Amino acid sequence: MSIFVTGCTGYIGSHTCVELMNAGYEVVGLDNFSNSKPEGLDAIKQLTGKEVKFYEGNMLD
Ligand SMILES: NC(=O)c1ccc[n+]([C@@H]2O[C@H](COP(=O)([O-])OP(=O)(O)OC[C@H]3O[C@@H](n4cnc5c(N)ncnc54)[C@H](O)[C@@H]3O)[C@@H](O)[C@H]2O)c1
Repeated sequence: MSIFVTGCTGYIGSHTCVELMNAGYEVVGLDNFSNSKPEGLDAIKQLTGKEVKFYEGNMLD
């Protein structure tokens, strides 16, 4: 199952991604980096060994 996580490089979003991915879910993430950095994706990969399928964009669009 895929789960869509908005704000996925933020504080709550990045921890949510790690927990979901470690539980076996595929994560599709969205963030516009208005309050986070792309390095958050590196941290998620480092903690899970997997890539988030990521889209940069504004969820209000
Ligand atoms: N305990 C700690 O160490 C710690 C650290 C940081 C934050 N906090 C707490 O966590 C809460 C904040 O965490 P959060 O995860 O809700 O906020 P956050 O700002 O960390 O994450 C929100 C994410 O959404 C993204 N975003 C915002 N608007 C967007 C839009 N229109 N489209 C796409 N992406 C968008 C931002 O870039 C960011 O990455 C607060 O309560 C704060 O006090 C705790």
